[in-house]
Order: sequence, then C-alpha cells, then structure tokens
Amino acid sequence: MSDILLKEEILKNSNSNLASSQLFVLKAVNSTNLYAKQLAKDNCPHFTVIVADSQTEGRGRMGRDFFSPGGTGIYMSIILDCQKIKLPSGLLTVATGVAICNVFKKLLNIDASIKWVNDIYFNNKKVCGILAESLTVPNINPSGFVIIGIGINVSTPSRIFPGKLCEIAGSIFPEHISRNEIIAMVIDELRMMCTKDNVEELIDEYKSRSFILNKKISFTQNGKTFAGIAADINKDGNLIVRLESGKTAILSSGEVSLGSKQFLE
Ligand code: BTN
Repeated sequence: MSDILLKEEILKNSNSNLASSQLFVLKAVNSTNLYAKQLAKDNCPHFTVIVADSQTEGRGRMGRDFFSPGGTGIYMSIILDCQKIKLPSGLLTVATGVAICNVFKKLLNIDASIKWVNDIYFNNKKVCGILAESLTVPNINPSGFVIIGIGINVSTPSRIFPGKLCEIAGSIFPEHISRNEIIAMVIDELRMMCTKDNVEELIDEYKSRSFILNKKISFTQNGKTFAGIAADINKDGNLIVRLESGKTAILSSGEVSLGSKQFLE
C-alpha cells in the first residue's frame, strides 16, 4: 500500500471540516512545533494543523530529540487558540493522550496505555510522544495558543532507532490503514476532546489507560531521587505519589520511571 502523505486524503478522511488553508502537509521541516509557532505568531486560525513526513530537528520533552525519519512516522502539530477551547489548557496534554489511545483503539483495535505524563505505549514499547507548548502573542491573542505536537512511530523498524532508543521505542505497524487515515482521526478525536468540559470523565478515561497507577515508581527532583507508589491522578492531571517516607508528592510535570531495584528495594 502506498503511504504518501496527501492533503486531499487527510481532508477526505476527516469529519472536522478543516479549510484547506488550515492544513499544511510538508515533505520535510525542522520541527512541526517550530513551524506551528511561527504560524501562530502570524495569527493563523484556531485548529491549524501541520503535518510533516520527516523532521530534521524533531523535539521531545526535557530537551530531548525526537527521531523523525521519513516515510515511517507521523509528525504533526495542532495550534489551539486558548479562547476557543472549553477544556482547561492545563489538561490538553492529558486530553491528547486519551485522544491518541482512542484513535489506536477505533482504527487499529490496539489497546495502548499511557505513562504519565504523556508517553503512549504498545507492546511495552513507546510508540507515541506528545509535546504541548504554550505561546503568548500579546498583540494578537492575549489568552495565548497551545501547540500540541504529536509524534507517532507508525512503521519505523526497530533496527533504525538510534542508540539506546531501540530498546525503548516501537511502532504500531498498522495493516491496511494509511498514515493519512490515522492523521485524519487524530484531528477528529482531538477536536472532540477540545469541546469537552467534563473534566472528571476525562481524568477517569486517562486513569483507565495509565499503566503506572498503583505501581512502584521513582522520579528525580533537584538532583534527588524519590521512590513511592503512583497513587492517583487529580483533576488537574497531576500525579499523586505516596512516598516511602510517608509523605505525599504532587507532580505537575517531569518524568517518572517504573520501580527500579536500585531505588526501591
Ligand atoms: C516526547 O516524547 O518527549 C515528545 C515527542 C513529541 C514529538 C512531536 S513530533 C511533532 C512535534 N514536533 C516536534 O518537534 N516535536 C513534536
């Protein structure tokens, strides 16, 4: 099956009625998030979408690179105008995680799970990462924009992931489903999520997909490593950790690791 990214195919498969001018499909770009930021500064419409076949400077959370080879992945950014969404902007990463899991389930019958904050796993491998970035453009939009960056490893063979990444990263390998169809459904699911105002329901959906809840985890803050049990996710999407010391930590960002012998026994 030919799997070339095509604007017409994405628009045809989407139910979101995007105007053609709201969708940019690029062969290569440094980073779709960087491209999106520039469009937002130029006051582009709410829900403008940028998709690229490859990125030369794909960016992940915590300053990491995001491996973005051509022909095998989906690298996309969606520009949201904070004035036009019902959901609190602090919950957009949570909503995106749920949206991606819904796409995988509906389109591919894949049961993916989420590692807080927003890494999506399938078959014990990370198959998708999400990078949400806020942007204020005072003269244009005082409420600001949020750029949701989504990277999905669709059919990237594990041998080409560089270095240690091949131990962590995997792909979803869809059969008979093109990247255009996946992108269209990501657009539709995310659009629906943005209209949600039932935070409780969203958090419940997120929790049902989380694979760290009730497990031993560790995390590092200010150079110090802490261990505990991932107890809950609150209405703001924060992770509640019952520490071994008996105290409770509330994490709003950062990264956790599933319990390692080094720290937890
Ligand atoms: C992570 O796993 O840390 C987040 C990865 C986010 C990658 C996507 S790919 C599309 C968008 N453009 C980027 O440069 N990054 C995000």
